[in-house]
Amino acid sequence: MNKNILTINNLSKSYYTKEKEILVLDNINMNIKENTITAIVGPSGCGKSTLLKILAGLEKESSGSILFNGKKKIGFMLQTDSLFPWKTVLENSLIGLEIENKKNKKSIKKVHDLLEKYGLNEFKNKYPSSLSGGMRQRVALIRTLATNPDILLLDEPYSALDYQTRLKLSDDLYRIIKSEGKVVLMITHDIAEAISMADRIIVLTKRPCKIKKEYTVKLTNKSFPIENRKALEFSEYYDKIWRDLDVNL
Ligand SMILES: Nc1ncnc2c1ncn2[C@@H]1O[C@H](COP(=O)(O)OP(=O)(O)OP(=O)(O)O)[C@@H](O)[C@H]1O
Ligand SMILES: [Mg+2]
Repeated sequence: MNKNILTINNLSKSYYTKEKEILVLDNINMNIKENTITAIVGPSGCGKSTLLKILAGLEKESSGSILFNGKKKIGFMLQTDSLFPWKTVLENSLIGLEIENKKNKKSIKKVHDLLEKYGLNEFKNKYPSSLSGGMRQRVALIRTLATNPDILLLDEPYSALDYQTRLKLSDDLYRIIKSEGKVVLMITHDIAEAISMADRIIVLTKRPCKIKKEYTVKLTNKSFPIENRKALEFSEYYDKIWRDLDVNL
């Protein structure tokens, strides 16, 4: 049995405008275990990004608690790839290390190795504008991995990409996550992406956001994401989650 790495207890969050309080997260409880990929799906505007921002420490919860099992480092990949256009692929990949003042021989070598491993070696000295969307997302991921986080928070990592690229990248991402042994919490709009990648899927309600359902994904002959789409159980999960997401039910 995998150990809990992160526990979220009774987490709530409100934003305040001049006139009113907007309750966004309403009593969220969640356990995240080692070596797992958890996908979060939910209606637009329900509070998914807010949840990740709180976990990353960029927003403060209104009540409840977040407990990490030991000292855990968080890597957060935002909803947009947010590369600096005036910096090269290599320079962009090194930014996280620079910010943390951890740029040294060893960490720089790791970035070169990651770029090599994920097919970006020839593009190291190119600027983001000359890369495809999929390549840019890979650079953003390498930048996040470079600082060696234990937990990766991915906010719709492929939302800006075309279908073909998303499929290819989901396999890439899966390979990267598994070979680096990370815990992943990822938001996606795409039910098929969630089923094909995740060990667990959490479905959220519309705002104020609560947990509506949770699924442990068990697929026959579980393999890489593209292959997983052919699993017998795939369409059954798809139909259930599709129904869960119907805001009228
Ligand atoms: N800083 C803020 N101040 C006030 N309201 C905010 C703030 N940030 C987010 N909100 C509101 O909180 C709600 C949830 O926003 P959030 O970005 O978490 O949703 P989301 O589920 O990620 O949406 P999407 O699927 O469109 O990315 C929205 O109604 C949004 O308008
Ligand atoms: Mg969002």
